[in-house]
Amino acid sequence: MGGVGKTTMVKHVAKRVEEEKLFNKVAMAVVSQEPNLKQVQIGIAEMLGLKLDMENKIVRSIRLHERLLQNDKKILVILDDIWEEFDLEDWGFPLEGGNNKSCKILFTS
Ligand SMILES: Nc1ncnc2c1ncn2[C@@H]1O[C@H](COP(=O)(O)OP(=O)(O)OP(=O)(O)O)[C@@H](O)[C@H]1O
Ligand SMILES: [Mg+2]
Repeated sequence: MGGVGKTTMVKHVAKRVEEEKLFNKVAMAVVSQEPNLKQVQIGIAEMLGLKLDMENKIVRSIRLHERLLQNDKKILVILDDIWEEFDLEDWGFPLEGGNNKSCKILFTS
């Protein structure tokens, strides 16, 4: 339901995860009812220190995917406020965690 506290809760999760060092990095983006998935990609990448401003979606998605599966870092990606289904892999968000399960995705809807 709207307004039950999803966004507040994931912000607390992000804070705890950082305090307790459960992941090396946390990156969060708001998807919203009218999503701009290019901006979501750019925002997540920027929080991980990766500049992702190229126009080509396939290149952006591959770069993001590579970054999220870098083996030495455990990354938590938080996607808040999803309304409609979209293809995570297609947008560079790995569904498989990689060799050592280095990336997890948490979303609210
Ligand atoms: N545990 C809580 N106790 C008291 N107030 C809360 C709690 N969690 C959230 N709130 C308050 O409730 C309001 C809505 O919270 P929030 O924006 O997190 O909800 P949401 O589920 O993300 O809403 P939406 O569906 O619109 O995205 C905010 O003003 C927030 O401060
Ligand atoms: Mg919200």
